[in-house]
Amino acid sequence: MQFMTKSDYEFSRYLNTAGKKELSGIIRYFCAETPQEELSELAACANRLREKHYGRRVYFRGLIEFSSHCRKDCYYCGIRKSNFNARRYRLSEEEILSCCQNGYNLGFRTFVLQSGEDSYFTDERLCSLVAEIKQRFADCAVTLSVGERRSDSYKRLYDAGADRYLLRHETADVAHYDKLHPPMMSLENRKQCLYSLKEIGYQVGAGFMMESPFQTFDTLAEDLIFLRDLKPHMIGIGPFIPHMYTRFAGLDTPSSGRTVVMLSLIRIMLPKVLLPSTTALGTIDPQGREKGLKAGANVVMPNLSPVAYRSDYSLYDNKICTGEEAAECLHCLTNRIESAGFEPDFSRGDHVDLQKGGDLICG
Ligand code: 5AD
Ligand code: FES
Repeated sequence: MQFMTKSDYEFSRYLNTAGKKELSGIIRYFCAETPQEELSELAACANRLREKHYGRRVYFRGLIEFSSHCRKDCYYCGIRKSNFNARRYRLSEEEILSCCQNGYNLGFRTFVLQSGEDSYFTDERLCSLVAEIKQRFADCAVTLSVGERRSDSYKRLYDAGADRYLLRHETADVAHYDKLHPPMMSLENRKQCLYSLKEIGYQVGAGFMMESPFQTFDTLAEDLIFLRDLKPHMIGIGPFIPHMYTRFAGLDTPSSGRTVVMLSLIRIMLPKVLLPSTTALGTIDPQGREKGLKAGANVVMPNLSPVAYRSDYSLYDNKICTGEEAAECLHCLTNRIESAGFEPDFSRGDHVDLQKGGDLICG
């Protein structure tokens, strides 16, 4: 295939300039019956680019799923509001702080606070929580992942000390977006949130699910185009996994292959991006997270939530690591990452353009 004769730089440039039709063709090519050696070459190219900017380091983020209440109703999500079987919980501020303390003692220097869109967490409550975490753990980065809010709310949270924000766009194709979400939600608002967050100064993460219902190579091409326009600092991609109490129950769970291909294409298109190898990828394939790292990913997000609540934060079925304490999970993951030839890194792990000191600053 012609891509394999290009240099890494040329391939990257190509992905940054190609139109929707060409991108759709490339995605189709690598997702269909591509010979194994070309898949290996794709991963190798992604790896070289990751290595150039981040070395073999894999950044650890401590994930705290602090509330499973959600006022939204995304059709694919296990904690959407009309799933009356979902068990709802909400951690107290003290419980959240104790998760941070536990994570800090284990070495984490980034906390990701994630929840459904829980109206209990007003700006006041969330700002005071963020400020308290930043005060107690001044050398840590705080990442929020709490959904769509008004831009003045994002600004207040930023001023309270939040450093980063994760908000997957889910799909950049309007018709596709509308098939996955109820009419009260819109892609336009989602995108606007991401642009506001970036403008305010957050390190921003966008992303989407691979093989979600109604996804096509064309909608994936739209995702690439949106991502290269937005230029987020982080991109979260994991496989869609059906949840039994959603309308998509019973659909096939994908294998890891296409998610891995997409991770590589994204690494090549945006070489400096922070790219998690997700828990969802580890859920559908026992070697999924390692495969993701070998294909260009460089972040993992082990769970620091209290074990008693883990299984209630059920976005999809059969999620892994719901039974282990944070320390056990960490031990297991660290070993796996080292065995795969990478270096676990517990620093804040900022985007390479924002790292201070060290030898990693590059233009
Ligand atoms: N399968 C995989 N990922 C899911 N998410 C929500 N539901 C599912 C599912 N069934 C993802 C969404 C959301 C993130 C927090 O979890 O992309 O943004
Ligand atoms: Fe909660 Fe989508 S169901 S934000």
